[in-house]
Amino acid sequence: MMRILLSAALATIALLAMPAVHAEGNAAAGKKKATVCFACHGENGNSLVGQYPRLAGQYPQYIVQALKEYKDGQRKNPIMVGFASTLTARDRKDIAAYFGAQKPVLWTLHGEVSGSHRRQGTTL
Ligand code: HEC
Repeated sequence: MMRILLSAALATIALLAMPAVHAEGNAAAGKKKATVCFACHGENGNSLVGQYPRLAGQYPQYIVQALKEYKDGQRKNPIMVGFASTLTARDRKDIAAYFGAQKPVLWTLHGEVSGSHRRQGTTL
């Protein structure tokens, strides 16, 4: 009896210690699914237009949550609700893995304050 309990306990521990592979998004699959997002957010998630948030280097969990909130209506945005509502939980994870793995670029305000729209990007 003790042996059974012990092996059951060990099996439980082994299960808990296993990396949650299914919980992680697949960035390669995410890139394909994110094609439609590139027009606004940039192919590598570094949008060039201020009104579109940068997604490169963002915590994947944040992206997953944001997309879920657009879909659920907790976040209200007429543009994003359309894109988010077509995504499954799997899509959200894969897309988030892709954008999260991209290198973020920091744009300085150089030139913005003097009226010129020239921007300079610096890779972090
Ligand atoms: C037509 C332009 C457009 C397209 C295409 C688009 N988005 Fe967006 N996205 C926006 C705008 C605008 C916002 C800011 C909305 C707001 O203020 O809440 C946004 C916000 C977001 C945010 C929240 C960012 C943050 O910092 O909170 C995420 C995540 C996001 N988009 C992911 C996606 C994904 C994934 C796709 C493709 C499935 C996509 N977007 C397609 C315009 C777009």
